[in-house]
Amino acid sequence: MIKKCLFPAAGYGTRFLPATKAMPKEMLPVLTRPLIEYGVEEAVQAGMTTMAIVTGRGKRAIEDHFDISYELEHQIKGTSKEPLLNSIRSLINKCTFSYTRQVEMKGLGHAILTGETLIGDEAFAVVLADDLCDGNGNGGVLTQMVKLYEKYQCCIVAIEEVPKEDTNKYGVIAGNEIDDGIFMVTDMVEKPDPKDAPSNLAIIGRYILTPDIFDIIRETKPGKGGEIQITDALLTQAKKGMVIAYKFKGERFDCGSVDGFVEATNYFYAKSKEEPKTAKKK
Ligand code: UTP
Repeated sequence: MIKKCLFPAAGYGTRFLPATKAMPKEMLPVLTRPLIEYGVEEAVQAGMTTMAIVTGRGKRAIEDHFDISYELEHQIKGTSKEPLLNSIRSLINKCTFSYTRQVEMKGLGHAILTGETLIGDEAFAVVLADDLCDGNGNGGVLTQMVKLYEKYQCCIVAIEEVPKEDTNKYGVIAGNEIDDGIFMVTDMVEKPDPKDAPSNLAIIGRYILTPDIFDIIRETKPGKGGEIQITDALLTQAKKGMVIAYKFKGERFDCGSVDGFVEATNYFYAKSKEEPKTAKKK
């Protein structure tokens, strides 16, 4: 059983400046809920109870969000506004939150290694909260991946097909399809030029990792952009043993970009308008 979920949330979020100058990117709201709350909800739905968050300077709002605000709760107690806190209260009751800081932003691989102290020696999930996912009737993406982990017991990355010209924004895999939408990874390249990309299967912000990845990251030299890349560590892992790539079912929005963020907002807004109708039909 996978109980812990790691949220690397120390990045600067430069694509969203100036909004992210004093506010963490993970706290940008889609409708009324910050991005990281959606990620935590997805992890809870997949059966995880320990949220391990790697933060950095200027990210304190994340800790405050997953805590009780006594003054506010006292003010709205018994009013029509009280139910607005139901979703976050219920999340706080279902899991615990622990934090560590990445002091220097040396890349996603380094952020994951920084989380080792919170994870220990067990398999864990990773959520990049700026990739907002909706299983769209198929269960959350992490729920789908946990099922796969039960079968394969190895590192798993979630992938989706992207336009070939966009491969330079992602880690891209090559692999042999061993089952419908499930690939045994043979190669992985971080942000390849479209002409060099081994496929158009891009890694998105959902991973299940086995704890031996920490030692591999420790040995991984800085790669693309001078950063320690999880993609490079996973390629080592794939060569040594086995890494699976899984074409998840559902939708994914890159909320670290303005276009993706607006698409997500429109999608969840439309969905919020549909839900009462569906409920009435039942
Ligand atoms: P991004 O590539 O989206 O970088 O990182 P970023 O800094 O957050 O955003 P931009 O590109 O400047 O707009 C992918 C994920 O890895 C985390 C980020 O917080 C994000 O969730 N990350 C990245 C870290 O935690 N530490 C790092 O050193 C780098």
